[in-house]
Amino acid sequence: MASTTFILLLPILLLLNPQAQAQAPAPAPSGQLNLTAILEKGSQYTTLLKLLKDTQQLSQIQNQFKTNSQGFTVFAPTDNAFQNLPSGALNGLSDDQKVQLILYHSAPKYYSLSDLLTVSNPVRTQSPWGLNFTGGQGNQVNVSTGVVEVQINNALRQQFPLAVYQVDKVLWPKAFSADANSPSPAPAPKKKGSNKGTATPTTDSKNDSNGVAGMKNNVGFGMVLGFVLLCMRVLS
Ligand SMILES: *[C@@H]1O[C@H](CO)[C@@H](O)[C@H](O)[C@H]1NC(C)=O
Ligand SMILES: *[C@@H]1O[C@H](CO)[C@@H](O)[C@H](O)[C@H]1NC(C)=O
Ligand SMILES: *[C@@H]1O[C@H](CO)[C@@H](O)[C@H](O)[C@H]1NC(C)=O
Ligand SMILES: *[C@@H]1O[C@H](CO)[C@@H](O)[C@H](O)[C@H]1NC(C)=O
Repeated sequence: MASTTFILLLPILLLLNPQAQAQAPAPAPSGQLNLTAILEKGSQYTTLLKLLKDTQQLSQIQNQFKTNSQGFTVFAPTDNAFQNLPSGALNGLSDDQKVQLILYHSAPKYYSLSDLLTVSNPVRTQSPWGLNFTGGQGNQVNVSTGVVEVQINNALRQQFPLAVYQVDKVLWPKAFSADANSPSPAPAPKKKGSNKGTATPTTDSKNDSNGVAGMKNNVGFGMVLGFVLLCMRVLS
């Protein structure tokens, strides 16, 4: 009963509250903004979600659009987009490059599609490189990295402070382009002591490119270590 009354009252309440009627730019919920949830709802972003988690950028980004007063824009490549990369391209990236790749897909400012139509190029991203936006017929916007160009057709979310756009290609940085074009994972990433401090046993010669295998190895190593420690404790 109460709810029926409420529904009957709702139009009147809306009339009395012009702000609600005009769909005011949702005043609250940047605290509730949840990129994971937005991407999961899209259900074709599992690779991106995994990459966001593996590179630990999910929480970073999540924090950014809570704290950045200018808002935030994310370009979300679909699973298909990742599949269409030359084989080995993604696995051929170092961990640092994977982070850069993710950062290249986000801008520390909110852009609506019409903003992107008129924005001055290049647009600053979270990475060292910019993106260029050009308008086509109608309200279509293309985004270009210099080596990849793709049309933006779908907004998963377009409301300040967060815009999330689907892209059907991975926005591959020009700086990586050699890697993207070579069929096999780039000739041995030059690791000039990029592993600061931590003396992780590098698997340079072996399957360094396969992140998942690397993770499994670490888990395996952890379990062995745990077992050894357990034995030591039992024996002592
Ligand atoms: C975001 O949503 C995901 C699932 O949709 C959930 O697991 C996660 O806890 C949420 N994060 C926050 C900060 O609410
Ligand atoms: C947008 O990019 C597509 C390729 O994805 C291209 O075919 C099209 O011509 C581009 N449009 C404009 C206006 O540059
Ligand atoms: C973007 O456009 C500018 C000129 O407007 C050009 O100098 C630059 O190389 C372009 N960058 C990319 C990534 O396409
Ligand atoms: C490396 O991984 C590839 C598949 O990703 C596999 O074909 C190859 O045998 C592996 N090489 C080594 C040395 O483990």
